Amino acid sequence: MAPVDTDVRIEELDLTDPAARATWHEVMERAVRADRPHALVTTAAAFEVTATSPSTFYARTWLQAVVDGEVVGVAELELPLSENTDVARTEVQVLPTHRRRGIGRALWQAVAERARTGDRTRVGGEVTVDVADPGPGRAFAAAMGTVDKHREDHLVADLPVPVSGVDEAYDVVTWRGRCPDEHRAAYLAMRNRMNADVPTGDLDLEPEVLDDERLASSEERLMRAYDVRVAAARRRSDGAFGGYSLLFVPHGTDYGWQDDTLVMPEHRGRRLGAALKSANYADLPDDVRSVHTWTAPTNAAMHRTNTALGFRVVEHMYEVEARIA
Ligand SMILES: CC(C)(COP(=O)(O)OP(=O)(O)OC[C@H]1O[C@@H](n2cnc3c(N)ncnc32)[C@H](O)[C@@H]1OP(=O)(O)O)[C@@H](O)C(=O)NCCC(=O)NCCS
Repeated sequence: MAPVDTDVRIEELDLTDPAARATWHEVMERAVRADRPHALVTTAAAFEVTATSPSTFYARTWLQAVVDGEVVGVAELELPLSENTDVARTEVQVLPTHRRRGIGRALWQAVAERARTGDRTRVGGEVTVDVADPGPGRAFAAAMGTVDKHREDHLVADLPVPVSGVDEAYDVVTWRGRCPDEHRAAYLAMRNRMNADVPTGDLDLEPEVLDDERLASSEERLMRAYDVRVAAARRRSDGAFGGYSLLFVPHGTDYGWQDDTLVMPEHRGRRLGAALKSANYADLPDDVRSVHTWTAPTNAAMHRTNTALGFRVVEHMYEVEARIA
């Protein structure tokens, strides 16, 4: 076992200090990018929103490892407050200059201690590794006692992608930011269907349930850091919504981040998923050059849709979990 760095101090980020917040984010970004050229990293603006306006649905703490007065490692701890109240989520990062000295382990232990205090029995997290050159993340996660629960591929496509037309029985309704009032009930039904349907492998988690208030709170927070774009398919004959696709463009960046795409069961088989993604991409400003997405390799329909649009797999993401009770 490598010697533990006895000079390391684990402390909580002082959220009232803008310079400390900026340092935390900068160390996180440098540590992530060291092994992952294709990583999608939370922007400084998005981190500011999360760190300075507490959410009603998650309690979050940010930890940092300090050696000789310098922050050399960071961890985020998230405790869901509405569903999955037995679970804590975390990500741990250490700068390459300070690895293999027990700093990651010290951060993990501080996370686990706080998770236990918050009555959690499991700690979960995402470990994402480059396809060509996987870094130390998986070995570290295994050493912390985690097991794999689910896998997704992280894919990237360069824009523009081939246009995929929409079935003539439907039209495409788009909005940016807040969902208009007249579509909210249908949108909420689809969002909750998505949360219940999305494949999550062996992860034993309750789906998040959105109501109008929770959707509004999420929209308001997201809009502060992202251009939020939705394309939805509406059947011409009866106005029924058949699916939606949700895309974020972080402010000040040249990429999109493809979030949910759902086609409701009775509307499947008409390539609406590809049409909705394609409609969102076609509408983006010219300076947005690429789109990132995540799909379980077992989700054959979505994998085919993505490959046809030109997406290629750049990273593997593993959802891992450790029992801490
Ligand atoms: C993964 C990471 C956090 C490890 O930080 P670290 O400070 O080097 O970790 P530690 O020194 O505490 O290592 C703890 C144990 O993890 C395992 N481990 C860590 N790095 C390893 C490597 N490169 N190869 C094999 N095992 C490794 C070992 O079992 C190690 O114990 P040992 O040194 O006694 O053998 C760091 O490499 C990193 O920031 N990577 C990028 C982000 C990431 O992948 N985070 C994990 C997702 S939560």
